[in-house]
Amino acid sequence: MNDNSIDSDQFRRACGLWGSGVSIVTTVDAAGTPYGLTMNAVSSLSLNPAMFLVCVDNGSDTLPPMLESRVYCVNILTQQQQDLSNRFAKKGQDKFSGVTWSSGVTGAPIIAQTLISLECEVSNVYEGGDHQIFCGVVRGLVSNEAADAEPLLFYSGRYAELVKS
Ligand SMILES: Cc1cc2nc3c(=O)[nH]c(=O)nc-3n(C[C@H](O)[C@H](O)[C@H](O)COP(=O)(O)O)c2cc1C
Repeated sequence: MNDNSIDSDQFRRACGLWGSGVSIVTTVDAAGTPYGLTMNAVSSLSLNPAMFLVCVDNGSDTLPPMLESRVYCVNILTQQQQDLSNRFAKKGQDKFSGVTWSSGVTGAPIIAQTLISLECEVSNVYEGGDHQIFCGVVRGLVSNEAADAEPLLFYSGRYAELVKS
């Protein structure tokens, strides 16, 4: 399916007008190697059972290990973690070098100093155009000492700060 009536640049700009938080979604392969990428196409899905979904590009290097392990962790970033967001938004072998992380109930990396980490076990994977939609049951919630920090936000292609009204 390819709807040529929609200009892709215009569509990209339109999507950017949906302001969001920023997360690093992680997984681990069978050898214990951690993978992860910066993501904002993530969403709460269900309250009972607790479910959270993420949409991963078919070209992502994190996709194959995620399909194999069927676990992922959504690490929601603080304002102080913009450098980490930039690092995980690029391809590379050494993304985790110098990053403090631990394994929780699923084995997917929990990154330290985030707002919160949602540990998920995949229940369903659906094709969505050039992305895969992972629906996951939340098996663990890890909040840490940064839980009351300000969130990192993304709007119109740039990072943004929260202004409380
Ligand atoms: C703010 C922001 C949000 C992003 N959101 C997504 C997303 O929701 N899904 C996705 O597949 N890629 C997203 N990306 C792009 C990936 O982070 C980027 O393609 C990364 O290099 C993929 O790494 P990998 O191939 O090692 O998995 C986003 C990038 C940025 C900067």
